[in-house]
Amino acid sequence: VMSKASVAVFGAYGHTGHFIVSELRKRGWRPILSGRDAERLKALSNATGGLEVRAASVEDPASLDQALHGAAAVINCAGPFIDTITPIIEAALRARIPCLDMAAEQQAALIPFERFADAARNAGIAIIPAMAFYGGLADLMVTAAMGDWTAVDDVRIAIALDSWHPTQGTRITGRRNTARRLVISKYGLDHLPDPPPTREWEFPAPFGTQQVVSLPLSEMITLFQHVKAREIHSYMNLAPLKDLRDPNTPPPKPADDSGRSSQVFVMDVVLANGNEARRATVQGRDIYAISATLVVEAMERILSSAHKPVGVLAPGEAFDARDFLQALTPEHLSLMLP
Ligand SMILES: NC(=O)c1ccc[n+]([C@@H]2O[C@H](COP(=O)([O-])OP(=O)(O)OC[C@H]3O[C@@H](n4cnc5c(N)ncnc54)[C@H](OP(=O)(O)O)[C@@H]3O)[C@@H](O)[C@H]2O)c1
Repeated sequence: VMSKASVAVFGAYGHTGHFIVSELRKRGWRPILSGRDAERLKALSNATGGLEVRAASVEDPASLDQALHGAAAVINCAGPFIDTITPIIEAALRARIPCLDMAAEQQAALIPFERFADAARNAGIAIIPAMAFYGGLADLMVTAAMGDWTAVDDVRIAIALDSWHPTQGTRITGRRNTARRLVISKYGLDHLPDPPPTREWEFPAPFGTQQVVSLPLSEMITLFQHVKAREIHSYMNLAPLKDLRDPNTPPPKPADDSGRSSQVFVMDVVLANGNEARRATVQGRDIYAISATLVVEAMERILSSAHKPVGVLAPGEAFDARDFLQALTPEHLSLMLP
């Protein structure tokens, strides 16, 4: 099989990076392994049949230019994104190649929309933040559920995880992510009340009825760009948050051939408009692995589309949300759309 173009992966030797590299290879792309630790890049290269290594640092723009040289796109999976998102976007703009990241942090996801919208249009490239489980998946689900609606009164997003064995990156990013969280209320971004609201949510099996707490992440930022909603609120069940708070919870452990853990997730999206209601549900396994699938699917769609998306875009703006999600079933997701 002839190999497709090369794609730079910044943060390649991280946990999510491993999944991205393997998803790219599975689909015939040539990953360029990038990140700040040359030794760990070399080790990953040795384990993956000698993929090209280009060490680079966000403090050294020239090293980033070298890392992106000749690549068709860059995927940034090195977080906290508050540290990496700006230099990687700037490098992508200089290289004039699309740039995707996996930010769950709201303050990081805001940066491209606030600072790089004009630059992305001028360079003719797509910049897509939060193209992952937190952020992108909810954005696509809400967009798909909206269908022909041009506005919506009320959107509720609820996630249940059976457990959350966090990576070091998740822990570090969580500790750094102390900014007051934002929700969409009265058509604007507004502070999450303190303490965050709780409620009950009826999830499909195996979860059933669970207590959930308001936990808005980067989906608020991306949805705000393109969905006209009076209220958007997102929630999570309590078991995974208890795991996260416990310093002794171990990192994720592979449980199948593709390296996915046994973790399962469900995301429900409920929309209300006037007296109409719509519900959508997606289920799958391992939030890190599905994030890799989402970002690689997105990158592939950008590079293969006849009318390339241009600008800083929310996932639901850049793609046909329904088609995108359906393309990942049944292998990666099980999906119920209205
Ligand atoms: N939105 C989502 O659903 C979603 C899903 C998965 C991951 N994420 C986010 O993605 C990030 C990575 O997560 P992970 O699970 O893959 O964690 P991980 O296994 O700990 O990997 C983190 C990677 O980022 C690199 N990195 C961190 N800061 C860096 C910097 N300033 N410069 C260069 N490289 C840097 C690390 O390199 P070093 O080891 O050298 O520090 C490592 O390669 C986290 O921020 C996490 O929140 C989000």
